[in-house]
Amino acid sequence: MSLDDAKGKKFAWISNFQSGEGPEFPWEEFTWFVGKINETMGLDLSGYKPERMKRRIEMLIRKYNCKSYKEYLDMILKDNKKKDEFLDKLTINVTEFFRNPDKWQELKDKFIPQLLKESGTRFKAWSAGCSSGEEPYTLAMVLEELKAPQSAKVIATDIDMGVLTHAQVGEYEERSMVSTPQEYIQKYFIVRDGRYIVKPNVKARVVFKRHNLLQDPFEKGFDLIMCRNVVIYFEMEAKDQLYRRFSESLRPGGLLFVGNTERIFNYKNLGLEIASSFIYRKI
Ligand SMILES: C[S@@+](CC[C@H](N)C(=O)[O-])C[C@H]1O[C@@H](n2cnc3c(N)ncnc32)[C@H](O)[C@@H]1O
Repeated sequence: MSLDDAKGKKFAWISNFQSGEGPEFPWEEFTWFVGKINETMGLDLSGYKPERMKRRIEMLIRKYNCKSYKEYLDMILKDNKKKDEFLDKLTINVTEFFRNPDKWQELKDKFIPQLLKESGTRFKAWSAGCSSGEEPYTLAMVLEELKAPQSAKVIATDIDMGVLTHAQVGEYEERSMVSTPQEYIQKYFIVRDGRYIVKPNVKARVVFKRHNLLQDPFEKGFDLIMCRNVVIYFEMEAKDQLYRRFSESLRPGGLLFVGNTERIFNYKNLGLEIASSFIYRKI
């Protein structure tokens, strides 16, 4: 679609825009840009909340003193670092080990032993939207604690290659560690020059891959899917569709673990039941 074609056209979701501040760049430029990002990077942004995305992109446009979305697009297509920065800003990557520690305690004491009993060597978990790896490594440490079979694996995916590279390296700063129990730090990290390095036995349980939750196919047969603090950026329709697909990807009895501010309102229609707060079970 050319910029001229885009003028006057609006995505349905644009009419929802109700910011008090008023946008700095016209919506038609943004609409055109979203189409171009799909064409050039294969990234479909229509599932994201447009107000939030527009604000974030325009922060970058202003940072580089670009006069239009077109100028900004030309710049990121020529410069991989700026392209990564764009993806990074679009999706907030904040995370930590043992985020919401009480939930992890419950998983470790009650739910994961049960899942391991049921699946044994076939145990398979997915951390969807894993950011820099703290969440899947937390699960890997819990699996180590529970002496799960070596074949028990965690697939960890994110849309953002920058965070995945960090995750694969497995080195963290103090701020990722605030909720980590001391005994886990001692057992599962090498602490060097104020940095926390995940030990090889923990790393060996996690496989990192790039995956877009709004576009790519889902594997099936998971015992546990964790998707926490990711869907806050998604439109309602994309969110509903995502939870449906997660439910289809769980084996019967498998669990879906969501963020501490997230609820699945139509869980019954998706074939799920409540196992605990923020934990749903596939019937
Ligand atoms: C706030 S982090 C959540 C990290 C971790 N799950 C937690 O709760 O601590 C959100 C992550 O979702 C990822 N994300 C956003 N949109 C995505 C998509 N369409 N597909 C896969 N990951 C996505 C972002 O790149 C980011 O790393």
